[in-house]
Amino acid sequence: MLDHSYNKGFEYTHKNPYHERLANFSDFVLRDEEAEEFQGKWNSELFKREAPLVVEIGSGYGQFMREYCQDFPEHNYVGMDYRFKRSFELAKKLKNLNLDHMKYLRAKGERLGFLFGENEIDSLLYFFPDPWPKARHKKKRLFQSHYLPIVHKALKPGGKMFIKTDHDDYANHMQEVIDGSDLFDVELATKDLRSDYKDHFLCQYTTKFEKIFIKQNQPIKAFVLTKKI
Ligand SMILES: C[S@@+](CC[C@H](N)C(=O)[O-])C[C@H]1O[C@@H](n2cnc3c(N)ncnc32)[C@H](O)[C@@H]1O
Repeated sequence: MLDHSYNKGFEYTHKNPYHERLANFSDFVLRDEEAEEFQGKWNSELFKREAPLVVEIGSGYGQFMREYCQDFPEHNYVGMDYRFKRSFELAKKLKNLNLDHMKYLRAKGERLGFLFGENEIDSLLYFFPDPWPKARHKKKRLFQSHYLPIVHKALKPGGKMFIKTDHDDYANHMQEVIDGSDLFDVELATKDLRSDYKDHFLCQYTTKFEKIFIKQNQPIKAFVLTKKI
């Protein structure tokens, strides 16, 4: 029995025409609930090899995903975004790369705990998420105190969550959520990543949205959280 009860706002729908069109890429694309049966088995049954499992929430147009997958063939990578048409357009580009160590998941980050098993993910990437700046929309932000236990459960012991944002208010909100939790060690927390940690992995790649914010002279805020055992 599939479980869609993760929150009341979730309404699973196949009505979007791009849901059907994504089926053309079923060799590497999973459409939300299709991944439930592979919970805890991404490496063994989908990638069919043991390797560090990297999951990105909000892959967007996929520039980072494509660069990373080409640079790290020794990792198993799952890009994830909830937008249907954007996912379809990205799937067309990913198809040409023909990489066995890369999968794409059309799903919301909120579904993490249903789509991945306990202690399954090595690295969770969350780059330039939608900030939902209006007061009445802030509850739509993914990074909330109730979400940290879900991330904690899905990460392996010592697994990490990497976060980058341009947005001051979302970064302050994240800091408050982190301060209120004892599930993670804070390995890095900065309001100006590119001044404070020039040599860090997080500076080695510049995502599509990051390029825009850098052009606008926006300092990049970042966190690296390590799961406590
Ligand atoms: C501002 S864009 C950033 C894209 C990319 N990470 C970058 O840095 O260029 C945010 C992306 O996250 C996706 N997104 C927003 N909320 C999401 C959620 N709850 N689950 C999955 N994807 C989400 C959006 O559809 C969008 O493609």
